[in-house]
Amino acid sequence: MAIRPIVWYGDPVLREKSAPIETIDQSVRDLVTDMIDTLRDAEGIGLAANQVGVAQRLFIIDLAKIDPVHGDLVVFINPEIHTTDGACELEEGCLSFPDIYQKITRAESVRVTALDLDGNEFTVETDGMYARAILHEYDHIEGVLFIDHISPFQRTLLRGRLKRLQQQSVSA
Ligand code: NI
Repeated sequence: MAIRPIVWYGDPVLREKSAPIETIDQSVRDLVTDMIDTLRDAEGIGLAANQVGVAQRLFIIDLAKIDPVHGDLVVFINPEIHTTDGACELEEGCLSFPDIYQKITRAESVRVTALDLDGNEFTVETDGMYARAILHEYDHIEGVLFIDHISPFQRTLLRGRLKRLQQQSVSA
């Protein structure tokens, strides 16, 4: 078990478009194990690989935080979003933006395919918080951050906090 440091806003890896995973080898399995430890330690819902500094198309979502009864941890490798529908506004946070929460409008439902750790393709069609988490994490592997979805007014209000976060990130 290894908890990896989560990079914060200001680290350029968060703006990288992540590369597809060619082979699901031991290094990918180790990365996933560490990401699970890291996500649980941070008590988050989702984590993308580039948030621990690895720009590969991989994210995990811990559904237990969303649905304790049916929840499970899901690993998405090389995910592809096929369709989205509707729109809804929900408050979001991100482990790379400690203590910053913003109301963000995103699609309400999503259909996504991805590979699991055995290389088998699976499909998820969902809505609500699970869809929200998938869309947020998918953005990460594209180098897009949740603050990219906020209004210019929200951004103005956040400017000072984002600047401080960027400065801490550079000096860390
Ligand atoms: Ni995030």
